[in-house]
Amino acid sequence: MNSFAIPQRQTPDAEMLFGFWYRALPSERVRHNRLQKALLLEIPLVIGRDAHGRAFALRDACPHRGMPLSCGAFDGQQLECSYHGWKFEPHSGQCQLIPSLTADQKLRVDRIYAGALACAEHDDYIWVFVPEPGPAGATRAEEPPVPAPRVPSFSPNYKLAYLSAEMPVNVDHGIIGLMDPAHGPFVHQAWWWRSRHSIHEKQKAFEPIPNGFRMSAHTPSSNSAPYKLLRFYGAAEAITTTIDFVLPNLRSETIRAGKFWFSSLTTVTPITRNRCRIDVVAAWNIFRWLPFGPELLKFVFAKFVEQDRRTMELQAEGLKHDPHLMLIDDADRPAKWYFQLKQAYLDARRTGGEMRHPIPGPVTLKWRS
Ligand code: FES
Ligand SMILES: [Fe+2]
Repeated sequence: MNSFAIPQRQTPDAEMLFGFWYRALPSERVRHNRLQKALLLEIPLVIGRDAHGRAFALRDACPHRGMPLSCGAFDGQQLECSYHGWKFEPHSGQCQLIPSLTADQKLRVDRIYAGALACAEHDDYIWVFVPEPGPAGATRAEEPPVPAPRVPSFSPNYKLAYLSAEMPVNVDHGIIGLMDPAHGPFVHQAWWWRSRHSIHEKQKAFEPIPNGFRMSAHTPSSNSAPYKLLRFYGAAEAITTTIDFVLPNLRSETIRAGKFWFSSLTTVTPITRNRCRIDVVAAWNIFRWLPFGPELLKFVFAKFVEQDRRTMELQAEGLKHDPHLMLIDDADRPAKWYFQLKQAYLDARRTGGEMRHPIPGPVTLKWRS
């Protein structure tokens, strides 16, 4: 890998990666027998849940004449288009009835599909597998090569909480903002948390992992969130944290202190080319004896996410006129890796070859934060 002594011009291309699972909606937003609209990678979707509670996702356009299926009627079993009443099985998208056909007309109704997408639900979210754009005309849903990602968990019983916020920047800015260590002292200040005066030099070991990179297990920094929370539970030295980033948009963090653990899976999902949404799901088996523990945690996370959202809203103003941007070493190296991983993935897809991992081996990065 090149090491850049001079800051390079880096403009995120905002290209959206197809062929991955994405979080579509929080589970609680999708009620039985009701249809909900969602936009994912500029694809309008209709999402619902059948009479048994199983979630489904279809492109929000009828294969007949494009009427949004979300305008139709759903009885828990079949989705009926509001224009000419064609009926579809919602999980496969298969057409089951065309009311205008006469008894002697032999059109094979079962060969017609509304565009169904593979759908999975866990950890409080409905996930949708967004396939590569295929040939025109909807067929059966593509079978995803891997199951939908999960929040890491280390015991049978744990609690979950989620947070979601939309940001008016493209997915690349959302993601590099998430992995950026240098904004903490400036953006995430609070009297009960840390001040910018607690800034100090840090050194972190990173290693390549499939489709991504890992900040190797280490004792969390003494001014970090997990450290302060977990101090109550164990000797500080026994606390370790690991942070992974994996394409297309997954940041998972695991903190362990003996039998106690806390983890999170954060995603930044492209809604359109200029908008993204951050979803944080946290899981933990700590705070059982601490009154208001989960509420406290949610409060802290909500504060952090809101600070990031507000920052990106302001950043979007600056980005309107397409300024030149740069990434510096070492604080922006994870951002460089993200762009290199993305490029390597796109190259591999184009050539049909193996993806060449841009990070050759373990690396130590230094910065002040
Ligand atoms: S547009 Fe849906 S049935 Fe005609
Ligand atoms: Fe942040």
